[in-house]
Amino acid sequence: MKDRLAEIESEALAAIDKAPDIDALERIRVRILGRKGSLTQILKGLGKLPPDQRPEVGRTANQIKKAVEKRLKARKKELKSGGYAGLLKGFDPTLPGRSRPLGHLHPITQAMGLICAVFERMGFDIARGPEIELDFYNFEALNIPPDHPARDMQDTFYVDEKVLLRTHTSPIQIRTMEKTSPPLRIIAPGKVYRCDSDITHTPMFHQVEGLMVDHDVSFAHLKGILTAFVHQVFDPQTAVRFRPSFFPFTEPSAEVDIQCVICRGKGCRVCSHTGWIEVLGAGLVHPEVFRHVGYDPEEFSGFAFGLGVERIAMLKYGIDDIRLFYDNDIGFLHQF
Ligand code: DAH
Repeated sequence: MKDRLAEIESEALAAIDKAPDIDALERIRVRILGRKGSLTQILKGLGKLPPDQRPEVGRTANQIKKAVEKRLKARKKELKSGGYAGLLKGFDPTLPGRSRPLGHLHPITQAMGLICAVFERMGFDIARGPEIELDFYNFEALNIPPDHPARDMQDTFYVDEKVLLRTHTSPIQIRTMEKTSPPLRIIAPGKVYRCDSDITHTPMFHQVEGLMVDHDVSFAHLKGILTAFVHQVFDPQTAVRFRPSFFPFTEPSAEVDIQCVICRGKGCRVCSHTGWIEVLGAGLVHPEVFRHVGYDPEEFSGFAFGLGVERIAMLKYGIDDIRLFYDNDIGFLHQF
C-alpha cells in the first residue's frame, strides 16, 4: 500500500507541473481527488485494511492529499498569471510592427543622380577619372601651360610639383579621348578640390563634365542639349541664356545662365537683382586640346561643358549656404 501511495503522489505532482492549462489541471484533480479518484478510493477503503495498518496509511494518504491540493493551487495561480497567457497579457498581436528608421541618399547624391539620369537619357555614357591627378591632365593638356594666367582662376591643392587634387572634372575629357576614338558622348561626374571656403564655396565640391565629339558638332548642338537639360532639371518654362566667356580649353566659350528660379527673373538677393543665375561653363573644344589627344581638329569637332552640382542642388532645393551640405546636421539632411 505504501508503494501504491508513493506512486500516486509522484505521478500526480508530475502531471500537475506539466498541465498546459486550467482544464487539464481540473481533469487531474478529478482523477486523484474526485469522488472516484485514486486517492479518494484509498481513503474510503481504509476500513477494510488490517487495523494495525490503518493509522499509518491514513496519515500518509492525508499528507499526500494536502500536498496534491497545495500543488494544484500553486499551478493554477501560475497558469492564470504566467505562461504564454501571461506573456500575451497586455500585448496586441494585431498592432503593426515597429519600423526601423531608414536612412536616405544625401541631397548632393540625389542631385548628382538626377543630373546623370537626364544626360544618360540623351545617350551620354558615364566616364570617371582619378581625384589625385597629374598637372598634365588637369592643366597642360587642357591648353593651360605652366605660366598661363588661367591657373589663377582655380586655387589648387598641390601634392608635389606634378601631382595635385583635380580642380575640375575636365581632365576626364582628356583621359577619355586618349583611350577612345570619336564619335563619343560622355559625362564625367565626380569630386573636385579647390583651396576656397565661404557661403558659396567648399574646398571639396562636385562637378559634372560633358563632352561630345563627332563630325560637324556645332554650337547649336551644345545649346540644344544644355537647354533640354535645364528644362528637365528645373522646369520647361525656365529661360536659358548663353553669354560669351573665356576658357582656355574651348573656343568659342560661353557661360550659361538660367532665369532665377527664386524670383522667376524679377530680380532678388539670390540673383543679385539681375534675374539670372550662372549654372554652367561650356564651349566648342579647342583645336589645341584635340591635338594633345591625337584627334584631327580638321576632321572632328566637339562641345564640352562643366557644371557645379552643389549649385544646381542649392537652386533646386532653395538652400542659401553651400556649407550646410557638409555639416552633417541630421535635421537638415532629413528634409530631402
Ligand atoms: N572646368 C571648368 C571649371 O571648373 C568648367 C568648364 C567650362 C568645363 C567650360 C568645360 C567647359 O568643359 O567647356 O570652371
